[in-house]
Amino acid sequence: MTPDLMREGAARRAAYEARMAALRAAGHRRPRGGFGRPLQPLEPVFTQGVALYVEEVTVSFDGFKALDALSLTVDAGELRCIIGPNGAGKTTMMDCITGKTRPDGGRITFGSNIDLLRLNETEVVTAGIGRKFQKPTVYERLTVLDNLAMSLAGARSVRASLFGHRNGAETARLDELLTLIELKPAAFREAGMLSHGQKQWLEIGMLLAQDPKLLLLDEPVAGMTDEETERTAELFLSLEGQHSLVVVEHDMKFVATLAGAHRTVTVLHEGRVLAEGRLADVQADERVVEVYLGR
Ligand SMILES: Nc1ncnc2c1ncn2[C@@H]1O[C@H](COP(=O)(O)OP(=O)(O)OP(=O)(O)O)[C@@H](O)[C@H]1O
Ligand SMILES: [Mg+2]
Repeated sequence: MTPDLMREGAARRAAYEARMAALRAAGHRRPRGGFGRPLQPLEPVFTQGVALYVEEVTVSFDGFKALDALSLTVDAGELRCIIGPNGAGKTTMMDCITGKTRPDGGRITFGSNIDLLRLNETEVVTAGIGRKFQKPTVYERLTVLDNLAMSLAGARSVRASLFGHRNGAETARLDELLTLIELKPAAFREAGMLSHGQKQWLEIGMLLAQDPKLLLLDEPVAGMTDEETERTAELFLSLEGQHSLVVVEHDMKFVATLAGAHRTVTVLHEGRVLAEGRLADVQADERVVEVYLGR
């Protein structure tokens, strides 16, 4: 390296340090992604142990409050079940988290740093939130593997994901996903030929391919056979810890399997939290029995 280049480098370094010192003096602190790594744009920080804060969120439709100052918190890595009667606001809550519906008031924060109410639906996905709707939306004419490959590619073009070269890491990840959703033997089958339950799993696999930190699952076992429902519970339980999961379901047997003896269950009613705690406790709550379970 020539002395000129060294001098240039030193000057650049000095300018950078001066800029940083000025920022620090002005009170700016750059959030860190762990081990001093700078955060990527839209990267959530979970160091406080919380994945999702919903605070006093209100949604009105023509004066009717679908959500009425709803507040709840989901921990990082937690599997949370949400139950409640029809019209309680469960789907509306997911609409607010994902940017589909804008609340009239309140705050929703992802990790400790991302204000979800400022993001559009695409940015919410980029930040690491995946949502599964009740009806599976897979590409029926593509194979199971190609459906997964397209999701894995994310921002890459559809063409490249289907016809381009897959590197070793991509191939390994696809294999892992196929095993996880138990569709390895069906990898080369057209998605349209799968059973309803298998399509649901494929869609879950497609969500996981995008490596979401938080998964929102609205009535995931609706229309599944008992056996498919049981296997779905096993799959969700295996994801706990690496992902946060919010599962809305009416199937109480499924909820009981997911909640076990120690996980937290939230009961929504008229747009607010009616009860929250271990399943046995909320099931014994008279108000819950009256509005939901006792029907
Ligand atoms: N776009 C909308 N316009 C008007 N009203 C709406 C809209 N979306 C939801 N609602 C109303 O808000 C309330 C909450 O609906 P939501 O779908 O969130 O309930 P839910 O708890 O998901 O019920 P379910 O268990 O039946 O799926 C309902 O009374 C519903 O009719
Ligand atoms: Mg709903």
